[in-house]
Amino acid sequence: MKIGLLYWPKGGNVERVANRIYKEFETDNIEMFDTASIKPADLKKYDFLIVGGSTVGSETWEDADDSNAWYSFFKDLNKTDLSGLTVLLFGLGDQILYPDQFVDEMATLREEFERSGAVIKGNWPIEGYEFNESRSIENGEFIGLVLDEDQQPELTDSRIHQWATVVKNRYIFPEEHEKV
Ligand SMILES: Cc1cc2nc3c(=O)[nH]c(=O)nc-3n(C[C@H](O)[C@H](O)[C@H](O)COP(=O)(O)O)c2cc1C
Repeated sequence: MKIGLLYWPKGGNVERVANRIYKEFETDNIEMFDTASIKPADLKKYDFLIVGGSTVGSETWEDADDSNAWYSFFKDLNKTDLSGLTVLLFGLGDQILYPDQFVDEMATLREEFERSGAVIKGNWPIEGYEFNESRSIENGEFIGLVLDEDQQPELTDSRIHQWATVVKNRYIFPEEHEKV
């Protein structure tokens, strides 16, 4: 069983949160890398992928500058077949400053990975957050773990722990869970 943890950008909240998520899976054969350091084709060796980013405006996704690792990554991803790979998402946003676009870009991550054949799992309840709209909701739930380091940093550790426990039991190590 091999788990990959992929995140971008570096040097901010996403990277800090990625490190905390990594610790939850540390003993479970997990490898972590930022988006600029890996090619989509190298993701095929993983059984599960955890992928996260922040919502910081459309330029993060659309402009081809050097600070934007997702842009070139997605171009390669569109040429890569990841059929059957399970992807679990996490996204960072700010529900007070951006209540109408809260964690919108987690939906972009999903669209891009689904286009390569990956299957997105690991949804998360919307209770406990206050916002108006988000592209990252489906069937009344977030499509991945949502964290708000700006407005609710005190909840981040427990949210990560809860989410990690659920996805391990439900998707990653279900047999071990059944034995308990
Ligand atoms: C320029 C800018 C635009 C942002 N736009 C959004 C937004 O549309 N929706 C949202 O939920 N958060 C938005 N945020 C909040 C960030 O997603 C949040 O602060 C996140 O923790 C940043 O993580 P990072 O430092 O790793 O990029 C924005 C932040 C900045 C600086």
